[in-house]
Amino acid sequence: VIDIGALYRDTGAFTFDPGFTSTASCESAITFIDGDAGILLHRGYPIDQLAEHGDFLEVCYLLLYGELPTKAQKDDFDRRITHHTMVHEQMSKFFTGFRRDAHPMAVMCGVVGALSAFYHDSTDISDPYQRMIASMRLIAKMPTIAAMAYKYYKGQPFMYPKNDLNFAANFLHMCFAVPCEEYKVNPVLARAMERIFILHADHEQNASTSTVRLAGSSGANPFACIAAGIACLWGPAHGGANEAALTMLAEIGHVDHIPEYIERAKDKNDPFRLMGFGHRVYKNYDPRAKIMQMTAHEVLGELGIKDDPLLDIAMEMEKIALTDEYFIEKKLYPNVDFYSGITLKALGFPTTMFTVLFAVARTVGWIAQWKEMIEDPHQKIGRPRQLYTGSPERDYVPIAKR
Ligand code: ACO
Repeated sequence: VIDIGALYRDTGAFTFDPGFTSTASCESAITFIDGDAGILLHRGYPIDQLAEHGDFLEVCYLLLYGELPTKAQKDDFDRRITHHTMVHEQMSKFFTGFRRDAHPMAVMCGVVGALSAFYHDSTDISDPYQRMIASMRLIAKMPTIAAMAYKYYKGQPFMYPKNDLNFAANFLHMCFAVPCEEYKVNPVLARAMERIFILHADHEQNASTSTVRLAGSSGANPFACIAAGIACLWGPAHGGANEAALTMLAEIGHVDHIPEYIERAKDKNDPFRLMGFGHRVYKNYDPRAKIMQMTAHEVLGELGIKDDPLLDIAMEMEKIALTDEYFIEKKLYPNVDFYSGITLKALGFPTTMFTVLFAVARTVGWIAQWKEMIEDPHQKIGRPRQLYTGSPERDYVPIAKR
């Protein structure tokens, strides 16, 4: 009888790295993170500069093509994306097939995957032109699909894209406008939405991006790959953390209760963690969290919300955690999700939509990483190894004899 486990162990030919804490799965020229210094660069440009001066489609262009666009390139890119914002009318029927109380991320997993059933031409990944069209379609249609998921949940009619608005303003329009009523997008809120999209656009080889790359490595079509990324993003340790962070802040309820929750987070016998705190790569303040905190203040100021108890709790919690031995020693700082929930809530979104908005923004990162992988001549199917710990080889026993 062969001891298969021993056989594997004896080869010594591969590394065992659960959670890929120290294994690079690819080369990439898109995004750089220095987690100790709290630096995030897209194609060399610091995230704070992009968030302050850039617009979302400019950042999309940068991630996809490696350079900031010229005016002519930007106009052309905007025009192309705008051209693809509508979804096939038949797709609206999908939404009505779901329960109204379905989580919108569940709806997103299904509907985005189904894009491949409508845009067959873009499933030919060997053709660079079709890869480009698929990328455009995904970036352009994600806000439309996300807004439709929201409208269905609200029980309101779908709003068609308004293509004279920019990406973020059009998204707010599709979510919050209703037929027969005047709706004017507030430019301060639209700018905040745009900044939130920019902050979430890419973050190198995180779990959902690695999922997209792994799915794509088999030659699966881009729509199916992005659907896989959406499924992964949904988890509370990843994109679902903004929803979880807001729920946690609401549960804490008052600044006086913060020390109790801090103690719980430190207790190894309690599974509770401070949601929106800690990061696999950042061992310093997540640069996106700073911009998000500022955006939260801007949005609340614009809406005339003088005191948001959740923001007060968040800021006090940050203050306490950053001076606590446990958090200092483990280098746990607020991540992007800590303040994003407060901002999104103020913008009018229910918590179940938070991760959907993350997915809308991250689509460009996913597709840029997918494109980079497909265009790499050395690309292979992703196939991690394992350390087998199961039974050695044994003979089948008929059921009557077990
Ligand atoms: N609260 C309390 N303790 C924490 C927290 C936290 N939020 N995060 C990590 N720790 C502790 C762990 O218990 C562990 O302690 P130990 O060394 O005594 O066992 C240590 O810090 C290291 O944590 P790991 O889970 O090993 O770190 P990892 O890199 O695997 O996890 C993660 C990173 C998943 C983000 C983690 O910090 C976490 O669960 N945070 C809360 C969820 C969250 O905010 N996720 C959003 C991430 S950002 C994004 O996806 C956009």
